[in-house]
Amino acid sequence: MLNRPASKPNDLNAFWMPFTANRQFKQAPRMFVSAKDMHYTTDDGREVLDATSGLWCVNAGHCRPKITEAIQRQAAELDYAPAFQMGHPIAFEFASKLAAIAPQGMDHVFYTNSGSESVETALKIALAYHRAKGDGSRFRLIGRERGYHGVNFGGISVGGIVANRKMFGTLLTGVDHLPHTHLPEHNSFTRGEPETGEDLADALERIVTLHDASTIAAVIVEPVAGSTGVLIPPKGYLKRLRNICDKHGILLIFDEVITGFGRLGTPFAADYFDVIPDIMTTAKGVTNGVIPMGAVFVKKEIHDAFMKGPEHLIEFFHGYTYSGNPIACAAGIATLETYQEEGLLTRGAELAHYWEDALHSLKDARHVIDIRNIGLVGAIELEPMAGQPTKRAFTAFLKAFEEGVLIRTTGDIIALSPPLIVEHEQIDRIVDCIRSVLAEID
Ligand SMILES: Cc1ncc(COP(=O)(O)O)c(C=O)c1O
Repeated sequence: MLNRPASKPNDLNAFWMPFTANRQFKQAPRMFVSAKDMHYTTDDGREVLDATSGLWCVNAGHCRPKITEAIQRQAAELDYAPAFQMGHPIAFEFASKLAAIAPQGMDHVFYTNSGSESVETALKIALAYHRAKGDGSRFRLIGRERGYHGVNFGGISVGGIVANRKMFGTLLTGVDHLPHTHLPEHNSFTRGEPETGEDLADALERIVTLHDASTIAAVIVEPVAGSTGVLIPPKGYLKRLRNICDKHGILLIFDEVITGFGRLGTPFAADYFDVIPDIMTTAKGVTNGVIPMGAVFVKKEIHDAFMKGPEHLIEFFHGYTYSGNPIACAAGIATLETYQEEGLLTRGAELAHYWEDALHSLKDARHVIDIRNIGLVGAIELEPMAGQPTKRAFTAFLKAFEEGVLIRTTGDIIALSPPLIVEHEQIDRIVDCIRSVLAEID
């Protein structure tokens, strides 16, 4: 037996933290040790109001008993079962329940373990679908500048955030990008969908002219770009994109990893914008963030295109060891029940006006150059510090944490997405905290 000295219980060295300024963190750690409903508790016993649903995922709030109990029960009954050539009932039950709340016609579900895996799965389904139909020349994938589609190679290839791409070589070939839709010169301080920019969808026509439609498999966009700072689509933009895709036989993929499960006040962004994609990626809120899981929804025609050939053969060579993991499915069913019992898939619509007014009351706060909102999502963009981009927002994040509110920042943008159980007083608290923090920092 190896006889290594035991590491110190709270040694911070070994864990290389994701998307974190590791050295800064380890000098002044910020630790959560428990959570309940709208609040975290820190290791020094302070309550911190969660204005970000963890990482855009804890839509029903923290440690909800129904979800916790479902996980405990399932872990004791059937902890794991393979999903390759074998099944277990709860995975089918959950898929049917998901299909029942999905936009019309999206009645098949492929399970993954994260948003990144959902994106890879969706891109692969798109390519393989065309090939299954005998249209194998459609190999190009079109993303969008400032898009975030997770961190795997397909996702960073179609994604449009330079820091996530520039270190990692040539990425996927055959990828092109639409322009982003952020037009601050026209749309600053817009409440909801901006007026200007619908015609940015026409860039897809130019890409078609450049490459020919017969080479393009799919376009992937976030209906509302979240991680890049809450970029809300201009009025009519998504409908126009849908029409251009239809005209050229290109599949439209909505990445709803953030917007899915009630974030905009509708079950999915597809419902909010009344635009149904061909494929929809989800994760995060599918299990309230409690157990890693993702789900890719596809239209019947896409699923059915694979269901041919000899019946003993696997139709789609793709899947994960944990696809449809029983404990994740149990968490997912309990999450869906919690959403439905408490009306959370549409509660965002009831709160949206209050949320909007509260956020826009920060218009005259120090450093603020733009405010954007839709459903229960908001962004407050700050003037960057001269020569030190991101520093001002990061300082605001640290200060807000000290003052008991968890916000999230990306670049110099504060992005907010509280759990859908948030109350008016808690919205006030979030906004008051940000106002006082901005007044204090350079
Ligand atoms: C739109 C979108 N797609 C994909 C992902 C990646 O999800 P994950 O971190 O679960 O891999 C995210 C994560 O924030 C996201 O916002």
